[in-house]
Amino acid sequence: MNILITGSAGFIGYHLALKILKTKSNVIGIDNVNNYYDTNIKKNRIKKLKQHKKFFFYKIDLSEYKKLNNIIKKNNINIIIHLAAQAGVRYSIDQPRAYFKSNLEGFFNVLEVSRHNKIKHLIYASTSSVYGDSKKFPLNEKNTTDFPLSFYAATKKSNEVMAHSYSYIYKLPCTGVRFFTVYGPFGRPDMALFKFTKNIINNKSIELYNHGNHLRDFTYVDDIVDGIYLLIKKQSKKTIPYEIFNIGNGNPKKLLDYLKYIEKNLNKTSKIKNLPLQIGDIIKTHSNINKIKKYTGYKPKTDIKTGIGKFIEWYKDYYKIN
Ligand SMILES: NC(=O)c1ccc[n+]([C@@H]2O[C@H](COP(=O)([O-])OP(=O)(O)OC[C@H]3O[C@@H](n4cnc5c(N)ncnc54)[C@H](O)[C@@H]3O)[C@@H](O)[C@H]2O)c1
Repeated sequence: MNILITGSAGFIGYHLALKILKTKSNVIGIDNVNNYYDTNIKKNRIKKLKQHKKFFFYKIDLSEYKKLNNIIKKNNINIIIHLAAQAGVRYSIDQPRAYFKSNLEGFFNVLEVSRHNKIKHLIYASTSSVYGDSKKFPLNEKNTTDFPLSFYAATKKSNEVMAHSYSYIYKLPCTGVRFFTVYGPFGRPDMALFKFTKNIINNKSIELYNHGNHLRDFTYVDDIVDGIYLLIKKQSKKTIPYEIFNIGNGNPKKLLDYLKYIEKNLNKTSKIKNLPLQIGDIIKTHSNINKIKKYTGYKPKTDIKTGIGKFIEWYKDYYKIN
């Protein structure tokens, strides 16, 4: 199989590419390597992926439709895993246009190339943020997602409904995957685990929103990747194949407890600067993962103690900290 991963210089795209490269399939990666966070991290991920003979990379933006179309034709792509997006809830408050461009216009181009090239399966990233302020826990795919709290979530919810129309009209097999707070080695510098670890090591204070009372269904990146991979292998039997799945851990933890694990692992305490709850932030996420379990046999394997340990091990090695 020839699998296209959009956002392959990104955190999840990199890990997914590594997993697929262990199989017989070729991975064709695209990414615009934008500077939302340190581009060296993205370049180093690509460098590692390029060590594999079955990995091919193109630096393009999702808005470059013709180039995208040519890459798909030239590489005989069967499956697209669409992970490229402007991520981050807080950044969407100041920069909504970046989300409009990558997540709406960009996603439209992905749908268009998929239909014109008769792609067998389009799997695209959505987010737990689409549940907004839903209080029906654990969050199940049938819960309402009509009231997103951030523009980021609004673009992801839009992707789900756009995909539905393409699957209905053009019979394009589409699967949306709602990820729950993903963490792990080579993770994103804008996310809590990276920021906390960096500041604790450098004796700087950490910014803790809502006194760390958020509950998050932290999911280790290898579990997310396993979930996606199980869905790649499973073919839909429906005539209008359209599915949405949560991919989470199913075991939420308080942000403050997450921080305690980091402190314990680093054997250091943090200096905390408490900040109020940010607009657009969700207090609690907790995934119901029964649907993907039943459909694919998905089972998350990594608890936060182990996962945080693996991240810190990577961080120290990457930044050469003793
Ligand atoms: N990490 C999480 O906790 C999480 C949770 C829920 C959903 N998601 C979603 O999963 C996907 C992957 O997230 P991630 O954590 O790996 O983020 P990431 O930012 O590390 O990866 C996204 C990649 O997409 C690329 N990109 C962005 N806009 C592009 C464009 N217009 N054209 C080409 N490339 C573009 C970026 O350069 C980046 O390398 C995203 O769609 C994100 O919204 C992530």
